[in-house]
Amino acid sequence: RGPAPTSPTGASLEVDPAYAAQHGEYLTTAGGTRLRETDISLKAGPRGPILLRDHHLREKITHFDHERIPERVVHARGAAAHGHFEANGAAERLTCAAFLRSGAQTPVFLRFSNVVGSRGSMDTARDTRGFATKFYTEEGIFDLVGNNMPVFFIQDGIKFPDLVHAVKPNPSNEIPQAQSAHDGFWDFVSLRTEAQAHTMWQMSDRGIPRSYRMMEGFGVHTFRLVNAEGETALIKWHWKPAFGVHSLTWEEAQLAAGNDPDYHRRDLSDAIETGAFPRWDLGVQVFPDTEDQIFEGIDLLDPTKFVPEELAPVQIIGTMTLDANPVNYFAETEQVAFHPGHLVRGIDVTNDPLLQARLFSYIDTQLTRLGGPNFEQIPINRPHAPVNDMLRDGFHQSGDQGGAAPYHPNSLDGGCPFLADDTSAAFIDVPEKLAASHTVREQPASFDDHFSQATLFYRSLSPVEREHVAQAYSFELGKCFEQAVKERQVSHLANIDDELAERVAAALGIPVPKPTVPPATDVEASPALSQVGESWPV
Ligand code: HEM
Repeated sequence: RGPAPTSPTGASLEVDPAYAAQHGEYLTTAGGTRLRETDISLKAGPRGPILLRDHHLREKITHFDHERIPERVVHARGAAAHGHFEANGAAERLTCAAFLRSGAQTPVFLRFSNVVGSRGSMDTARDTRGFATKFYTEEGIFDLVGNNMPVFFIQDGIKFPDLVHAVKPNPSNEIPQAQSAHDGFWDFVSLRTEAQAHTMWQMSDRGIPRSYRMMEGFGVHTFRLVNAEGETALIKWHWKPAFGVHSLTWEEAQLAAGNDPDYHRRDLSDAIETGAFPRWDLGVQVFPDTEDQIFEGIDLLDPTKFVPEELAPVQIIGTMTLDANPVNYFAETEQVAFHPGHLVRGIDVTNDPLLQARLFSYIDTQLTRLGGPNFEQIPINRPHAPVNDMLRDGFHQSGDQGGAAPYHPNSLDGGCPFLADDTSAAFIDVPEKLAASHTVREQPASFDDHFSQATLFYRSLSPVEREHVAQAYSFELGKCFEQAVKERQVSHLANIDDELAERVAAALGIPVPKPTVPPATDVEASPALSQVGESWPV
């Protein structure tokens, strides 16, 4: 296990019962009372009924009856590890976040996940992977809740339930739509063409990674950094794996799913167990914080767009190493609660409409998933910084709730006055000029281009990687029942790349469609996106 969590006062929680190993010379009840017998119930005679009086039987069965909690509504299948992050100081000019100061070491907990499959699904399904990192900084928790692809399906969080309902199993028979009757997925992404860029990433080899250790991670959205002078910059987060980016072939993914559905979690756990610690560099692409927040024609608030590294190089600001497996999957990997709103001083959000919806969603779902409002007190979620939040009571409250005046302001215990010039406080509200004088339900015109980024990614791939993309579209669309859905999706491919559209149309036996938007002839490739040429990891 990684470093033991510390209490709000900084004391080690090694002896916290939630973490204490359960072994010893005798069995006990949950209350610690020594047991004589746990194999035979108390009965009215050897062949008689069981007596209600058998408290131990009741405790054992009752606890068992309540062992399951709801799985995550998305990203249900995951695996995690402990580690640490060391900053190299390159971000100091951009942000006052203490954990990014030169040489600062911060404990982390990282959970990888599949988006669509349930907790018991197989690891190697074609899917986007979650890449969520919790930094236990001295200034509080910072969560970088990213994915292994730099773009997302949708532009506005209000579409997220629709997207997830389209990819989750069919409600009538619980058969996964993304893996057998594919119509829901293809129907949605072909009707909402903003999803075309992300779909291209999923149909590429990035959708079937070789290992969690060999995936890039992306924050996707644009965030704002604020430095000690109050200057701001817009950035995108990148994780670069020391082992390079590698994928399975589709046949390998299928075989692994059959032979070892736990392929990725075993790989991660074995690597750490044997001391081959996975490592990533953390980097940022930096953009000026201009009023329009558009960089080289790309709207930085549109989460379906990425910025090629040729236009904004990734600047490395630190390194993360994973060096310890969890000791209790449920306590740590299952109960960890990430939230894009867990921010520290010097890191702020932008008005990306997908990010804004996420800020609401995570806490809301965790209230149900983790049984009430005190899930931040579960050891894996506890900050390694003093907590004085004045939040009270609620299910499973176990904190020392402080003095007799849990409200602000108060004159009884000092009241924790806020200082207007407190430079160590977070949530620096950067004044923003808002364009609108009235409310609207509108997208900006800069969100309208739904195809050029899919083209950019496709053209950045090597011939063999393109071949895999064509095979993936042909195979997955081949599982669709609805001819109209297939034709609609292939018609979008004509807007992305005519040769790709021809190949997929031929494989599906449907007419080759004509583009409906002007062909993106001026789209440059981004060589940094191809995996070919990277060394195989030691
Ligand atoms: C997990 C909502 C977009 C990355 C989750 C969970 C919810 C959720 C409800 C389950 C959390 C839990 O039970 O603890 C949403 C909504 C989105 C959205 C409403 C869009 C409006 C995204 C995007 C990314 C992302 C764009 C990547 C940049 C993740 C990850 C997890 C997750 C990595 C798993 C966290 C873990 O390992 O526990 N999301 N999500 N989500 N989401 Fe999102």
